[in-house]
This record gives sequence, C-alpha cells and structure tokens, in this order.
Amino acid sequence: MYSEKFQKSLAAVEAARDKNIAYEPARMTAQQKEDLLAAYHPDYKQDEFDTLKIGPNKGDKVPKELAATLQAHSRITADSVDLCTPDYDVDVLIIGGGGAGASAAIEANEAGANVMIVTKLRIGDANTMMAEGGIQAADKPNDSPAIHFVDAFGGGHFAAKRELLSKLVCDAPEAIQWLSNLGVEFDKDENGTMITTHGGGTSRKRMHAAKDYSGAEIMRTLRDEVLNRGIPVVDFTSAIELILDENGNAAGAVLMNMETKELLVAKAKTVIIATGGAGRMHYQGFPTSNHYGATADGLVLGYRAGAKLLYAETLQYHPTGAAYPEQIFGALVTEKVRSIGAKLVNAKGEVFMHPLETRDVAAASIIRECTTRENGVDTGDGCGVWLDTPMIEKIGGEGTIEKRIPAMMRMFEKYGIDIRKEPILVYPTLHYQNGGLDIDADCMTTNVKNLYVAGEAVGGIHGRNRLMGNSLLDIIVFGRSAGQNAAKACKDITVGKLTLDHVASFEKEIADAGIVTDTVSPKLLPDYTRRK
Ligand code: FUM
Repeated sequence: MYSEKFQKSLAAVEAARDKNIAYEPARMTAQQKEDLLAAYHPDYKQDEFDTLKIGPNKGDKVPKELAATLQAHSRITADSVDLCTPDYDVDVLIIGGGGAGASAAIEANEAGANVMIVTKLRIGDANTMMAEGGIQAADKPNDSPAIHFVDAFGGGHFAAKRELLSKLVCDAPEAIQWLSNLGVEFDKDENGTMITTHGGGTSRKRMHAAKDYSGAEIMRTLRDEVLNRGIPVVDFTSAIELILDENGNAAGAVLMNMETKELLVAKAKTVIIATGGAGRMHYQGFPTSNHYGATADGLVLGYRAGAKLLYAETLQYHPTGAAYPEQIFGALVTEKVRSIGAKLVNAKGEVFMHPLETRDVAAASIIRECTTRENGVDTGDGCGVWLDTPMIEKIGGEGTIEKRIPAMMRMFEKYGIDIRKEPILVYPTLHYQNGGLDIDADCMTTNVKNLYVAGEAVGGIHGRNRLMGNSLLDIIVFGRSAGQNAAKACKDITVGKLTLDHVASFEKEIADAGIVTDTVSPKLLPDYTRRK
C-alpha cells in the first residue's frame, strides 16, 4: 500500500505497463557501458578510496573503510598468547560456517582428515543463507562450460584469473549433482528436468533455483550434512589472528569466544579461510543485503599474515535492493524478479535499460536515473526506481509470483504491498566483494603456504564484476576443492614451532609508516551504536 505521494508516478507506471512489456530496449555498446560506469558506479569514485601504506598490497587503492581495517591494530599482542598448549589440534581448521566452509568441511571429512569449523555466529549464519536467485551451471544441451566461461569473463571485464574461472565453470555441472545428491530440492518441471532461467549477462538459461530461497535450501542441506557427519563446530567463536609456524606457513589461529572474550589457540596443519563478504562495512555509506557478520574478517587475517589481495577495490552493488519501506532498506530483491519478466522503470514509467544488463551496468543506470536525470522516485529516505513486478503475472500467468518468488511476495506483503498488483521501489545495495585473497587453482594463497581460501573471501574468480548465480556456485566449487586439497596436503605436513611474530612485524609496519589509528581489527561485528 503506497501513500498519496507515490500515486502520480504509480499511475504512469501502470499506464505504460502493456507497452513496456512489449518494449525490448537495446543492449548498450561496450563504450556506452564504460562511460556509464565511469560516471555513476561507486567503484569509480576516486575520492572514496585510500592507498594502502603497508602490507603485501602497499601502494594499491582500496575503499577507505577497508584501508582503515586492514591497517589497524591487532586485538592481541604477539607475546600475550600462550601458543605452547593449544586448545585444539586438528588437520584442517576452517574459519567460517557458511556454504564454502561447510562444503570444505564435508570434503575434508570425506578424505579422512580431522577437521573443525570455527564460526563467530552459528553454522549457517552467513550470506549463503540469504542468497535467493540461484546457482549457475551449464548442464543443458544448448550450453557448455565454454559458453559459461565467455559470459562470466566478459561480465567481469575480462579480468578474472582464467584458471579460477575455468575451474568454476567446468566443475559446475558436478556441483549441481553433488548438491542434488545431498538433498537440495531444485525446482523441476513435470518431467523432473531442472528448471533453468537467465540472469544478467547470461547467454543461456543456466540458473538453477529453489524458488527464491536457493541459498537457504543449499545451506540447510550442507549444515545437515556437516552435523550428520559429526564434524565439530565451535560456534560463537571468532578467529582473530592467524598463527604461522617458524617456517612462515599457516599453522592455526587465535580464537576468541564472542561472549566471554576468552582466547583459545587452535593448531592446524592447514587453515581454510571461508569468512565470506564485507557488506557490513557499508562502503560509501551504502546499505547492504549481507548477513550481520559480513565484515571482511578473512581479508584482515590473511593480509596481516602476508597474503596478497586481488581486486580489493571492486565491490558489487546489487541493482535491486529494497528502497522502500525503510524497514527493509537495502534488503535483496532477487535478480530472478527480472529473469522472470519484471522490468525497471523510472518515475515517469519509462524503461531505461535492458532488464538483463550485468549488475554493475544496471546499478549505474539506476543511480543515473536518480541523480542527473532526476527520474527517480523520492521515497522519503532517499531515491528509488520502480521494478514493475505485476508484469510477471501478465507474462507468466496468474500465480507465477507465488510459485517462483514466494519469499519476495512475503517480504513486501508484511508492509501491505502486494507485488502481484503493485510495483516495488529499488536502489543499489552493497551485495558482494569481487576482490579478496589471491589464490591458485588449488585454493592455496599465492604467498602463504598451507593457507587456503574459499568463497567470497577469494579475489579473482569473477574479475571485476560477478554474474548472478556464480557466487553460490563458487562457494561449492572452491569450498569442496579447498577441503579436498587441504586434507590431501595434511598428510605431508609437519608443523613447526608456532609463532605470532607476523603480528609484531605488522604492528611495527604501522608505526614505521606513521599510521595513527585507534581502530582494531578484524571488526567481527558491525557497530550500529548511535553517537552524537
Ligand atoms: O539476485 C540474486 O538473487 C542474487 C544472486 C547472486 O548474487 O548470485
């Protein structure tokens, strides 16, 4: 139910609906996209970035908020923790209890390793759980991993590490089978064939979904599998610093009980960082679709221990975050809404872009409508454009919304908005970190041995922009692979003397660079305290 102030614009959207359904706007040229991104995409706002003064990426630009947390003090001093009597001693220590961590744990356990998950909240409290639209895999006769590669490589501005992207697309069909065998209920037609749809930037319909709660369905299944296998999960416990051994190899982590602040030591032959994203860093003041724990912790842990970052300056602003009502400001409105027929229209009821442009282009187009073109809708708290959801029922028939995107329907229903009859207001929301720790095709960091990374904490799989559905895919492909490789490597590893010398060295670098800060990191949880 929209108040009076929206009615004029709503009437324009409604009047243009039939014409807009039939209208197919042209795709932008490469040059048009480049110009649009340079003018409107947040990644291109130079004054929102700082140059790193210390660490393996010294000289690189990253978002100001990330620079502050990367160049912050540790929560401990190097000599304040007794490393001689570890509380845990395992083969594979997995930091993070989302989809990547759970997949890694299952595979490491399958390979016979003694594996443990440590997670600052509970297993499954992660971005995976909140993913909606689906997971890509080229498993239909008209598709192939090569076509999937071309779509993703182009969508990521030709910047993806080829060996990582190649692994992602080639292992995708098997990932779907693995999930299906574990019990994930993907949407199927009456013949039992998996239903697949388009996403922005895809040339084939390869998005597999479980309605619009695909991530929750996948996480439910992975969590059950972890628990059924009896894999130990230490919850409400954060990793606050990696431990290296005297040879400079990863060898465990210092953990902190989130409630009591008690410190614990976990010794391990291999460590897998699967800590997820960074939406709760609220770069440039953006709201986020991310989980409460998405605070870039893995990047901090890895960076301080000497691991390099790749593309840490590129973020994904999902074009369609909820812009109204304020209670759900920034919440994800899945791209699937556009995949099944809804178009973006401005305050005047005009379609202003092709509905399946890649995310960075779509986000920049919306910001353009709201700023220089003044075609946005004033929401009271900001600006938005319409996502014309009633188009879906007109195209697919009555009941399509309830069947395909029930979570969306319920989310807006709570606030009196029936998305079958009324459009919704959207604006970009911080959704994904394209960059992260630099790894090789075995998921090991390029410069810290025995340190593996999987999921959103990895940089370079997708290049500088990720296509929808390739993140649920990467947590499975790289999670599984990290678990397998870490378990295999363990067999030949003898851990040397444990040390936190790198913490002391980093502290010295801070002082030598003249950085004055009272920030400590990793951040662990966002701080929403109201201040004067
Ligand atoms: O729009 C979405 O459902 C998000 C999917 C993704 O980030 O892959």
